[in-house]
Amino acid sequence: MVDDPLTPYGNKPMVTPIVNAVNYEYTSFEILRQIVDGEIDGYTYHRDDNPTCRAVEKNLAQLEHANDSVICTTGMAACTMSFLTYLSAGDQLIIFHDTYGANYKVSLLLEKFGVNVTWLDARDSKHVADAINDNTRMIFCETPSNPLVKVLDIQWLRRQADRAGAMLVVDNTFATPCHQLPLELGADLVVHSATKALGGHNDLMAGAICCATREQYDALWFTRQAIGATLDPQSASRLERGLKTLELREAKMAVNAMAIAEFLHDHPLATRVLYPGLPSDPGHEIAQRQMFDGFGGVLAFDVGQSQEEAKRFIEALQLIYHAVSLGCTETLVCIPVLTTMLYLPEERRTSFGVRPNTVRLSAGIEPTEDLIEDLKQALDKL
Ligand SMILES: Cc1ncc(COP(=O)(O)O)c(C=O)c1O
Repeated sequence: MVDDPLTPYGNKPMVTPIVNAVNYEYTSFEILRQIVDGEIDGYTYHRDDNPTCRAVEKNLAQLEHANDSVICTTGMAACTMSFLTYLSAGDQLIIFHDTYGANYKVSLLLEKFGVNVTWLDARDSKHVADAINDNTRMIFCETPSNPLVKVLDIQWLRRQADRAGAMLVVDNTFATPCHQLPLELGADLVVHSATKALGGHNDLMAGAICCATREQYDALWFTRQAIGATLDPQSASRLERGLKTLELREAKMAVNAMAIAEFLHDHPLATRVLYPGLPSDPGHEIAQRQMFDGFGGVLAFDVGQSQEEAKRFIEALQLIYHAVSLGCTETLVCIPVLTTMLYLPEERRTSFGVRPNTVRLSAGIEPTEDLIEDLKQALDKL
């Protein structure tokens, strides 16, 4: 038998093969020992590791300037794995209202196991300084945040975390490594919903945690392997393909988002426009310092004065899709209080600035002028 039937002459395939195997034959007990002890890279069982997934992990680690990364089934699995790995009963988690809604559900589970969860408004991140205590173990944030694209100062948060010896975890889904490198700014871990821009085509769900050290990789790998949140190789392969065009797509999404934000900013029916690229945005100054090559593809705005108007606007759109998710090739809009934030308690939705008529828009890669034209004709119908 040829040793390696895939590359008998060393002619490597251009695409990492999709390895569907659940289990792998051991060539000797010594090799088994070396794999299990982590002395050599090798594979035993899919829940532990998979070559297709491993190739993507290495690729993503390079993009995020990380030591390594762990990919998993969804963005929420990645968030949850970071909590499960590093939090214990009695620890305090500082997290912001301005994080993807399902984190609230996870926080209810964490509280069941004795973790103290403190929720803060990202617009007033200075409250972090007051909230920190000896038990603070982790600060978890999104910047820009979902859905109001609030910007947090990662380097400032690093200094706050250091006061308590806490970890700083940054969800970089909105910015992507094309616009922001949190590990370079002092974060310990970077979390992603790879379902979004990293995958980029609405055809896979995945999550990722990029880490600064080998010890963190080992700890996160242990959690994933234990709870069984390992990604399937088909999704990993699609993610690999997505990453190949990430920079091109993200550049166009950021250009489109900026043009849309500027257009809406000057439109009387867009009664509030939030985008860190706008000089008028409260997060602009920090974003200019910690982001590069643009400000990402997502923005939020209020339509008119009521939800009725926001709904009529969305129904009038012809090119732009009414759908959740973000970071993909098509431009999408949704009303967060009716979708991603539906199950949150009322005060969690509104107290930090999301209104009934707030629309979140994720710019795709369509021609800019077509998107502006679509928005204009829909607003004209109001
Ligand atoms: C910023 C952010 N983090 C995490 C998630 C969760 O990702 P997933 O839907 O892949 O579980 C989302 C989903 O929208 C998100 O927007």
